[in-house]
Amino acid sequence: MSHPIDLAALPHDFLWGTATSAYQIEGAVAEDGRSPSIWDTFSHTPGKIDGDDHGDVACDHYHRWREDVALMKRLGTNAYRLSVAWPRVLPGGDGPVNAKGLAFYDELTDALLEAGITPSVTLYHWDLPQVLQDRGGWPERATAEHFASYAAVVAERLGDRVTHWTTLNEPLCSAWIGHLEGKMAPGLTDLTAAVRASYHLLLGHGLASEAIRAAVPGAQVGIVNNLSTVYAASESPEDVAAARRMDGHTNRWWLDPVHGRGFPEDMRELYGVELPERDGDLKKIGAPLDWLGLNYYFPQTVADDPAGPAPHVRDVARTGVPRTGMDWEVDAGGIETLLLRLTEEYGARRLYVTENGSSYPDVVRADGTVDDPERQDYLERHLAACASAARKGAPLAGYFAWSLLDNFEWAYGYDKRFGLVHVDYATQARTIKGSGHRYADIVRAHREQNRRAA
Ligand code: FCB
Repeated sequence: MSHPIDLAALPHDFLWGTATSAYQIEGAVAEDGRSPSIWDTFSHTPGKIDGDDHGDVACDHYHRWREDVALMKRLGTNAYRLSVAWPRVLPGGDGPVNAKGLAFYDELTDALLEAGITPSVTLYHWDLPQVLQDRGGWPERATAEHFASYAAVVAERLGDRVTHWTTLNEPLCSAWIGHLEGKMAPGLTDLTAAVRASYHLLLGHGLASEAIRAAVPGAQVGIVNNLSTVYAASESPEDVAAARRMDGHTNRWWLDPVHGRGFPEDMRELYGVELPERDGDLKKIGAPLDWLGLNYYFPQTVADDPAGPAPHVRDVARTGVPRTGMDWEVDAGGIETLLLRLTEEYGARRLYVTENGSSYPDVVRADGTVDDPERQDYLERHLAACASAARKGAPLAGYFAWSLLDNFEWAYGYDKRFGLVHVDYATQARTIKGSGHRYADIVRAHREQNRRAA
């Protein structure tokens, strides 16, 4: 092993998982009563997605899920992070439940449990029913309320078997990338809409958490954020202040409120948008979490950019550092720094790395195998850094590799491959990559070590 992983630092019941999300893998967008989501609309808008790709078929997981559960079993993983498609379950956004849509997740849950795999269910991985977008989407309070009703429906159905619940995946992307940068659905570039969306997403988290807890005794509820370590491009006071603003925009805006600290004052002032606050909201948003999920991919280096949009910073590409096929910088130290920050600064009780992974242009060899040494290296480096954080006291309880399968990588389409398992989109053939085999070896090694220690 090129990067030794201190497996003894990880708890015996560590969750070794893979992660996916509904729109990225399911396909079957018009089947069994599913209504369009904002991602169907966005991906079918010419020019929004590389190659004008869309999720109509994706990995056809809606039909091939049995095979995909079998793949997880072959990898030896004991957990799986999936997301439920809101427009499958409640095609009207609110109102009548679509029994067929819910039945899909019900069967999948049973199959996972039968395979010895703990399901970790995310309720919102960006696929808002388009009908709710037509009524204003996340900038409107009603969307947060509908989200809680939807959460209740899913929790009531799966809660006898699922204890591990995530309200939102990466609300930063929904709010900032979807409403401010316009690079994700719904594709707006409007600061007021973005700030209002961020508020209602977090309110939705609070309301949905209550709904899940009411439906599922003993539920373990958390939220998943994509956080970054942020560095200043220089030591100039301007760049140092820019890094502080970027930390507010990327990290603190999302962490402070769910830890009962309210929205950071400096960022409120910077955005200059009145929050649509009502009495009692902050208490709901800040109700104690059972765990916190970290999605980590890359660090950010920023410089001051007074003329740019909020938060008035620009990314600076560091030279001489390794990068993935996404052009994202590889910095495994960042995951350790963030896990320790969540432990020390936010008093996290339990942490999961809910996503981490890398995209590289894979080559299928003549013999049909896929060797991906760079992805293996990325995986090992980051797992080593996670174990190091655990050794230093981070209450890390699991790691979910992004992703089980190559899939629809949002605005980048199918060209960017993050899977431990290769997908040939023409035939839907799945092939475990070298990194998948490596992950399986690591999981096995941890298990064997536990056995020896017992
Ligand atoms: C995260 C998303 C996930 C995937 C990875 C690469 O931001 O949560 O769906 O696209 O990035």
